[in-house]
Amino acid sequence: MTEPFTRVAALREHVDQTVTLNGWLYNSRGSKGLRFLEVRDGSGIVQVVVREDEVDGASWDASGELTQESSLRVVGVVTADERQRGGVEIVASSVEVLALAEPYPITPKEHGVEFLGDRRHLWLRSQRQWAAMRVRNRIITAIHGYFQGQGYIQMDAPILTGNAVEGTSTLFELDYFGEPAYLTQSGQLHGEAMAMAHGKIYTFGPTFRAEKSKTRRHLTEFWMIEPEMAFYDLAMNMEVAEEMLVAILDAVLEDSRDDLEILGRDVGKLEAARQAPFPRLTYTEAVDLLTSDETQTMLDAEIAGLEDEQAALEDERDTSRAGYGQAKKGVKRRIDAREIEINGRLDEITESLRNLPQWKESAASFEWGADFGGSDETVITRHFDTPILVHRYPAVVKAFYMKRDPDDDRLALGMDVLAPEGYGEIIGGGERATDLQFLRDQVEAHGLPESAFDWYFDLRKYGSVPHAGFGLGLERMVAYVCGLPHVRETAPFPRLLGRLHP
Ligand code: 4AD
Ligand code: MG
Repeated sequence: MTEPFTRVAALREHVDQTVTLNGWLYNSRGSKGLRFLEVRDGSGIVQVVVREDEVDGASWDASGELTQESSLRVVGVVTADERQRGGVEIVASSVEVLALAEPYPITPKEHGVEFLGDRRHLWLRSQRQWAAMRVRNRIITAIHGYFQGQGYIQMDAPILTGNAVEGTSTLFELDYFGEPAYLTQSGQLHGEAMAMAHGKIYTFGPTFRAEKSKTRRHLTEFWMIEPEMAFYDLAMNMEVAEEMLVAILDAVLEDSRDDLEILGRDVGKLEAARQAPFPRLTYTEAVDLLTSDETQTMLDAEIAGLEDEQAALEDERDTSRAGYGQAKKGVKRRIDAREIEINGRLDEITESLRNLPQWKESAASFEWGADFGGSDETVITRHFDTPILVHRYPAVVKAFYMKRDPDDDRLALGMDVLAPEGYGEIIGGGERATDLQFLRDQVEAHGLPESAFDWYFDLRKYGSVPHAGFGLGLERMVAYVCGLPHVRETAPFPRLLGRLHP
């Protein structure tokens, strides 16, 4: 439809024209007879110039009254100005207050994680959060684009289910009219049924895990994308995962540069990461790499590098502090700003220097057969710039439905994709077991109620075929692409241990 106002994102197409802009006040400053309003409208931010002698009295008063996040309407002329964000500004002819905001709780100063989490409904308006949600949106559309382009059918798997998929320890149980039910942990099993009807499908929906651990990677509610392909084996499955990831990276590098810049993301790292083919390592090769001397040397070098950086930053801080007393006001402000930056980086370094010796120790003592912990994944991926595919894990650390490696019965034909830069597992999947008796035995061995899986066993009774699939955790992918330290900033209203509101 044609909107009766113009969005910030489209202002460039309206240079020298008069437009109406609706939005919220992000920031303002002024001097005698002149005010600059930074107005955000959801599509971007633009500077509005209000001159006392060019607007009526009511508009001038309105522009002075506006508090942070007040809503407003501006009419004005779009003027090209390359120094401004987006290359334009608006010279106002009128300013109207729509709703004056009460003192806004989120200000440019530093706020704690809990403070912001409690105000997530408002925090979403902040620049970084805004940019992250836009990147999330681009990732979602890239995923649909990839699968739709490859002839997959999107399916909506049920959210209320009668069976576990990924073990029983993380189930959210509820009472379904007297019968126990669970919020789905994964749409995979229902996806397998749909793949037998359509050949290639993918789910894109919410999944739930009652994760009792507080980590930067775990949510209790997260969105998973689960393709499932009939007549695919493990190698083909890995190719799909690789292609899909490259499609996502291509999309954000093409369309999300401005958002990634707001997030301070080093896009060079993402450019390096999209270079397929990604290395494929067996679990056993990954263990060898983890426990190698090469890994110890790499981590020692990292520790030495961080210690040097720490010393240099402390020197810089001491030197500028020594000169602070005599400095002019502007210089003082710059010293203060730099000190905040230095302190932030020093905190990161301290944390890394605390972790690295433990990582070294845990890497060296890792024993074949165990599952990788978060730090093990980080250490393994430190050797690569791209995501890596690790396959053929010990069957004991994987789910009941995994097919065994015909060459080594201890191994499951499962695969994980580990992202670089410490982001670790973003994808888990594999080839599915097809043998009915094997599956029955596995369900029993995993302590799962056999009757709840009768329908699933039917898939092996009626035209069983080799098939494979995987699950991508959307929030982990968003965290990685955006370079966010924690998944709590990757969902509009994240759900995690201790966080149900707002
Ligand atoms: O490795 P997972 O548990 O695999 C499955 O659920 C399979 N049924 C998928 C399949 O083969 N169709 O989970 C898949 C991905 C993980 O790699 C991770 O990215 C994400 O889902 N994930 C979580 N993300 C956020 N918070 C959690 N608690 C997550 N648990 C898994
Ligand atoms: Mg997994």
